[in-house]
Amino acid sequence: MTLSTEEEQMIEDILRAYQNNENIQQLKHYVHHGAVTTYEHCVHVTRASCWINRRLHLNADEEVLLISAFLHDFYLYDWHKGDASHRLHGFFHPDVACRNAIQNFQIGEKEQAIIRSHMWPLTFLRLPMSREAWIVCITDKYCSIVESVLQRRETKNNVGK
Ligand SMILES: [Fe+2]
Ligand SMILES: [Fe+2]
Repeated sequence: MTLSTEEEQMIEDILRAYQNNENIQQLKHYVHHGAVTTYEHCVHVTRASCWINRRLHLNADEEVLLISAFLHDFYLYDWHKGDASHRLHGFFHPDVACRNAIQNFQIGEKEQAIIRSHMWPLTFLRLPMSREAWIVCITDKYCSIVESVLQRRETKNNVGK
């Protein structure tokens, strides 16, 4: 998904204050899928959300969309590690991410709802209720699949070496 220079600049302008936050920087130390860090995954979802919104002319509020996409997995732990509280990670991490986003950035209700619903349909009662929420929910799944497939391919290639 290639973005234009203008789109890249818009993402940078909107997210600059978020990216520089020291807790957000911590996401670079947690693995999300394979070799992809949680920080990289959040950037992938942000870029894909921008791309889909622009190319499909979905008319989402771009500031709300990009901030929510960037913060949607703002939980600060490694869900692969065997802590009992991480077993239900899929169900609970949207609330953890939302809480961290409120504490660090005082995000609004629209952004909170988008973060809380991004794991739908796993969190069945948390249906995405806005176009921005649907975009983040769908691009998150798309990016997770691409990241997992790429990782599998890399592992296979390394085994073959
Ligand atoms: Fe997530
Ligand atoms: Fe995600």
